[in-house]
Amino acid sequence: MDNKMAAALNKQMGRELWSGYIYLQMEAYLTDLGLPGMGRWMRLQYKEEEVHGMMIYGYLLHAGAKVEMQPIPEIKGEWDSVLEVWENVLAHEQQVTAWIHELVDLARELDDKATYNFLQWYVAEQVEEEANAQGVIDTLKFVKSDPQSILLMDREMAGRTFAPPPEAAEYGVI
Ligand SMILES: [Fe+2]
Ligand SMILES: [Fe+2]
Repeated sequence: MDNKMAAALNKQMGRELWSGYIYLQMEAYLTDLGLPGMGRWMRLQYKEEEVHGMMIYGYLLHAGAKVEMQPIPEIKGEWDSVLEVWENVLAHEQQVTAWIHELVDLARELDDKATYNFLQWYVAEQVEEEANAQGVIDTLKFVKSDPQSILLMDREMAGRTFAPPPEAAEYGVI
């Protein structure tokens, strides 16, 4: 694998794990606020991000490239409202999407077909990630952040489940 591609993938691995940290912080904030269902949703989101990061880790190993663990950037710990948390989730996921698209462009530039193919899973996953955040924001705005409605959402979101994708096994994550 081209060194430039490997360096960019290592960077993205770090960003995925960092995303997990951000969601853990959001879990604590929301749980403290009295919304354990949304908190649980964030815990599962953390697990998803861990899988995203570790799939890249596994892919690098499989491809014979060097794995280099990245420093975790600082994270924001406080928000002013539930809506602000979710707007932050959406903005973060949009940033991640842009990074994934940059990786796709680089793979194409380097004619790295295997990495290009590997990244397609992430392209699709980001559509899902943005849609999830947007959906919660839409509902919060629809109910005008009414506390009773937020409690209902919280109970519903507590039911989220998590199953690692089959690709995770392929890259030795599970
Ligand atoms: Fe991710
Ligand atoms: Fe994500």
